Amino acid sequence: MTPAVPTPAQAVRALAARLARAGVPSPDHDARALVLHALGLTTAGLLTRITPLNAEEAATLEALAARREARVPLQHLLGSVEWGDVALRVTPAALVPRPETEVLLHLALSALRGVPEPCVLDVGTGTGALAVAVAHARPDAHVTATDVSDDALALARENATRNGTRVAFLHADLLHGAPTGLHLVVSNPPYLPDADRENADPEVQHDPPLALYGGADGLDLARQLAAQAPAHLRPGGTLALELDPRNVHHLAAELRNAGWSARVHDDLTGRARFITATR
Ligand SMILES: C[S@@+](CC[C@H](N)C(=O)[O-])C[C@H]1O[C@@H](n2cnc3c(N)ncnc32)[C@H](O)[C@@H]1O
Repeated sequence: MTPAVPTPAQAVRALAARLARAGVPSPDHDARALVLHALGLTTAGLLTRITPLNAEEAATLEALAARREARVPLQHLLGSVEWGDVALRVTPAALVPRPETEVLLHLALSALRGVPEPCVLDVGTGTGALAVAVAHARPDAHVTATDVSDDALALARENATRNGTRVAFLHADLLHGAPTGLHLVVSNPPYLPDADRENADPEVQHDPPLALYGGADGLDLARQLAAQAPAHLRPGGTLALELDPRNVHHLAAELRNAGWSARVHDDLTGRARFITATR
């Protein structure tokens, strides 16, 4: 039985069991993260502290536990996420940056290797993840980021400042009004088929719908983006996209038919998820 006033390690075990019962996908990881956050402990502190939680700590943890049990995303509860080499504030204003998108970041940075002072556009920047991480890795780059959500743009601006990066933000529908002469257009556009709304995981329902759904087959925005990109890219410039594994090969074929040279790349679980294309 869990003691009435647990130590931090006991609190992790009890919370993990509670989150597992609620169907939370990674109960051990999340319980540990929430206890560290509620108590302001490091991992080492968690191992060495044997004094029980005081009343204030217990109340803070209980509030977080109840929200995670109700499937509020862990990142919303922690308020921030380490992503690439940057730390991003996360709120319901923008999609929680996903680990798989770090592969898109690496593809983007690879495309810029050897290009001095590259001009880069991140379309649909959300928290600013891609734009801020590119600007952080390449301080010589001229990075612009767009979104149609004012709330997302405000958050992205804050994240650029927090990480000491230089990014220009633009309220724009895809590439309308965006710079020309770009070396790279990178985007993780809304790409889920509309029908996925029905079965979205509880956590995903906390992301803005505007960030998720891309029409009947999910490709509406990616297709428009690819149609607009040539006018903004310099010759030999790269379009780098994240897409749903279910339709990435489909768009790659469409791009090749439209004269692009397109490569498909896997995510870390071996599923095709990214396209880099030049023309
Ligand atoms: C999947 S989220 C990606 C956010 C961020 N780039 C990331 O990878 O975490 C897609 C973003 O595109 C934005 N968006 C949706 N429609 C757009 C449009 N027509 N033009 C520009 N941005 C758009 C959404 O507001 C959202 O922030």
